[in-house]
Amino acid sequence: MSNERGSWGSNIGFLLAAIGSAVGLGNIWGFPYKMGKSGGFTFLLIYLLLAIFVGFSIMMAELAMGRRTGKGTIGAYKELTSRFKWVGWLAVFAPFVIMSFYSVLGGYCIEYMALNLSNLAFAGAEVKTGADLFGAMLTNPFGCVMFTLLFMIICYLINRGGISGGIEKFNNVGMPALFVMLVIIIIRSLTLPGAVEGLKFMFVPGYAVEAGFIESAPSIGSVMATAGGQMFFSLSLAMGVMITYGSYLGKKENLVKNAAVIVFADTVVALMAGLAVIPAAVATYGPSAALSGPKLLFITLQDVFQTMGSVGSLFGVIFYLLVLVAAISSAISLVEVVVTFFMDRAAAKGKTGSRSRVVLLVCLAIMVEATIVAVDGLGSNGVWVPFQNSLGVVGSFNDCWLDFMDCLSEGLAMPLGALLMSIMVGWEIGSKTVLEEIHQGNSVKWVDGFLTFCLMFVVPLAMAFILGGQIGDYFSTSERSMYGVGYGVGAFVVVAAWLAAFTSPKRKARKGK
Ligand code: PFF
Repeated sequence: MSNERGSWGSNIGFLLAAIGSAVGLGNIWGFPYKMGKSGGFTFLLIYLLLAIFVGFSIMMAELAMGRRTGKGTIGAYKELTSRFKWVGWLAVFAPFVIMSFYSVLGGYCIEYMALNLSNLAFAGAEVKTGADLFGAMLTNPFGCVMFTLLFMIICYLINRGGISGGIEKFNNVGMPALFVMLVIIIIRSLTLPGAVEGLKFMFVPGYAVEAGFIESAPSIGSVMATAGGQMFFSLSLAMGVMITYGSYLGKKENLVKNAAVIVFADTVVALMAGLAVIPAAVATYGPSAALSGPKLLFITLQDVFQTMGSVGSLFGVIFYLLVLVAAISSAISLVEVVVTFFMDRAAAKGKTGSRSRVVLLVCLAIMVEATIVAVDGLGSNGVWVPFQNSLGVVGSFNDCWLDFMDCLSEGLAMPLGALLMSIMVGWEIGSKTVLEEIHQGNSVKWVDGFLTFCLMFVVPLAMAFILGGQIGDYFSTSERSMYGVGYGVGAFVVVAAWLAAFTSPKRKARKGK
C-alpha cells in the first residue's frame, strides 16, 4: 500500500487516526453539556438521527472524494467540480482558523496536567481553587503562549513523521490509551455520592427543567441546530480532514464500514465523556456545574479533583492527559489538511516538497494566529476589545478572540462547506461519482439509494437549517434575534447553490445535454 505520497500502514491505523480526529475537545466538553442543556435524551435521539442521515453520508462522500482523486481538499474539489472549486479553499481555511484556538486550548491542557503533577509531587502544600488557577493562567499571556508553543511543537513532531510514520503511530498508541484513561475516570465519577443526579440530567427527558437545571425546555428547532452543529464539528466534517485522510487510503478498503465505525466510535466516546464529566461535576457542585460550558473543564473539574485530596491530583493528571491526547489527535488532522495541500501542490508542479519544511511553515503560521488568541486569554487581557470596536458587529461571539475564530470556522465555514458539498455531489457531479468509488471495496446495494437521497435532499435541507441556527446562535443578542435572518441566509444559499449546480457544464455533460 505505498506510493510516493505515502499511505496508511493498515486500515486499522487509518481508523484509529480518523477516530482520533473526530474524538476531541468537542466530545469531552461540548457534547456532555449541550446534551444536558438541550433536553438530555431528546438531544441524543436527534443527534443520532442527524449522525446517521447527515454525518454518515457526508463522511462516506468525503472519504470517497479523497480516495477517488488521490488528492487533498483543494485538489479534490478542483478535479471533481466546475462550479464549486472554491469550496475546497473554504475547507482549508476553516481548519487553519480552528487551529488558532484549538492549539491554545491544547496548551491549557498541558498546563493543567503539569499543575496536577506538581500537586501530586508536593502533596500537602496549599492548592489554589479551579477559578483562581484559571484566572491566573489566563492573565499570564506569556505562559499561555509558551504552552501553546509546546502544543504546536508536539504537533510539528508528529506531522513531520508523515501519515504512517507520524500520525498513524501516534494514534495507534494514543487512542487505546485514551480509552483506558476514560474508563478510569468514568469509574471514579460514577462512584461519587450523588452521581445519579448527573446521570438523570443526561438521560432523562425533561429532567433538566424538572430539577431546575434550566428554566424552560429549548425549542425543537434550537435543539436541532445545537445537535447538528455539535455533530459535524465532532465528526470532523466539512474541514477537508476526511477528504485528506481518505486520499491516503487503499482502494480495497471498505468506505461504508469505515465511515460507520468512525461515526459509531465518536458517538460512543462522546457519551463516555459525558459519563466521566457530568456526574462528577453535578455530584460535587449541583446542577449549575453541568452547564458551565468551557469552565466545566478547567474550573469545575479541577475543583472536583481537588476535593478528593492527593489521589485527586492523580485523577487530574490522568484526566488532563486524556484531554490532551484527544486534542493532539484532532489537531494533527487539522494541520495535515493544510500540509497535504502544499505537498500536493508541489507534486503537481513536478517538485517533491520537503514535508519537514512544509510542516514547520504551517505550524509557524498557526503559531502566529494562536498567539493572538493566547494573549487575549478568553478576553481577560483586552486584546479583543479594539478589534470588536472597529468591527462593530455584535453577537454571542463577541466576548473574545476565541469566540470570534470559532464563529468564523465552526459557526459559518463548516455548515456552509457541508451544505455546498452535498449540493455539489448530489446535483452537480451526481452521487454516482462517489458511489463508483464506494463500490470498490463494498458491494452492498442499499448504499446507492440511501446516499443519493441523503445527498440530494436530506443533507442540504438539514445543513441549511443548521447554518441558519448557527447564524442565529452566534449573532443574536438579548435585544435582537437573528434567527430569521439566519434561516433566510440558509434558504438563499440552498437555492443559489442548487441553481449553480443545475446549470453547471459538468451536470450538462453528465446528462448528455
Ligand atoms: N472533532 C474534533 C472535536 O470534536 O473536538 C474537532 C475537529 C477536528 C473539528 C478536526 C474539525 C476537524 F476537521
